[in-house]
Amino acid sequence: MPVQDLILQRFPETFPDFQPIDDDPVFNPAVHLALGQPERRYSLAELGYESSQLTEPTPSAVAATDCFQVLSDEGVSALYHVCKQLEAYTTSNPRIARNTRGGVYRSRFIRDLSVSPEVTEHLSALIDSPLLPHAMGHQLAHLNYQPLTLGENVDKWHYDTLQVDYVMFVTDPNAVDGGEFQYFLGTRDEMAELHKAGKKIPADRVVAPPIPGAGYAVLMQGNYVVHQACGLQSEGERITFVNGYSFTNPAIEDFTAVKQLRMADPAEIVNAEYARQMAYRSAQHLQACINTPNYTDTDATVEQLQRARNELDVAIKTLQDSEDEALKHFGD
Ligand SMILES: [Fe+2]
Repeated sequence: MPVQDLILQRFPETFPDFQPIDDDPVFNPAVHLALGQPERRYSLAELGYESSQLTEPTPSAVAATDCFQVLSDEGVSALYHVCKQLEAYTTSNPRIARNTRGGVYRSRFIRDLSVSPEVTEHLSALIDSPLLPHAMGHQLAHLNYQPLTLGENVDKWHYDTLQVDYVMFVTDPNAVDGGEFQYFLGTRDEMAELHKAGKKIPADRVVAPPIPGAGYAVLMQGNYVVHQACGLQSEGERITFVNGYSFTNPAIEDFTAVKQLRMADPAEIVNAEYARQMAYRSAQHLQACINTPNYTDTDATVEQLQRARNELDVAIKTLQDSEDEALKHFGD
């Protein structure tokens, strides 16, 4: 690389010390993808969010979609093959009994699927706003596996630690008893109130989008849509793939719940990945200043620099605060 060129990588060139899987298929979007459309989208307003309740800025009015196809049959079988190898690396946290995170550092297939421009463009259209694959490796390709205890929920009611994600079934949800993915038709605050009062969630406020098979996904603004993954009611296999995105526009503030992530992943890795996320955002602000200098408006230039600095100030403050925070959820 000529020294005068500055090149930023969407995915890093150095990885944590993770053992790669043995048999890693080559991701081929022409073969493995079969992108389809959802029938329905739910808006944030339908969930009860008024604009005053949107505490984290969002450029999209879409809360969630029902299911749409992502992978072809070949894509499903290649991903399943990778997921079975990554099952050796599951960890537990107070929300999820068995998940594998950081698979992008172990499998090139999963990495290429996670950052696929074809998928990213498709999802951007579904959510009416340009997206970028998340800059934090552990926010990509999160894998959930059914708990070893029958009936135990795969994941409790919660909202996510990022802006946008999709949840895709790697196994056929119709081949098992239970294991539904569910949305709460309400806001985070309403769910918190129900949980605090020990009340049952009214059945008419829970939606389980029908999923026709493996390779189908639902997309959502994960930090606003409260959701859960139910347990299996009889022996079977349930694997889901959850991939994270950020809104491309750096004027939309970052939403990364770093302290929550430190409860699920090694702190040093979370910190390195988060620094990357914020450095990338800072670079997005600086790009205009570097590539297209404004020769007539110094105030606008100062604003660009301030935005770039603000990302770094937020990141430094967050990284210097090592206090723990319990993993949040709304129970079963
Ligand atoms: Fe989630």
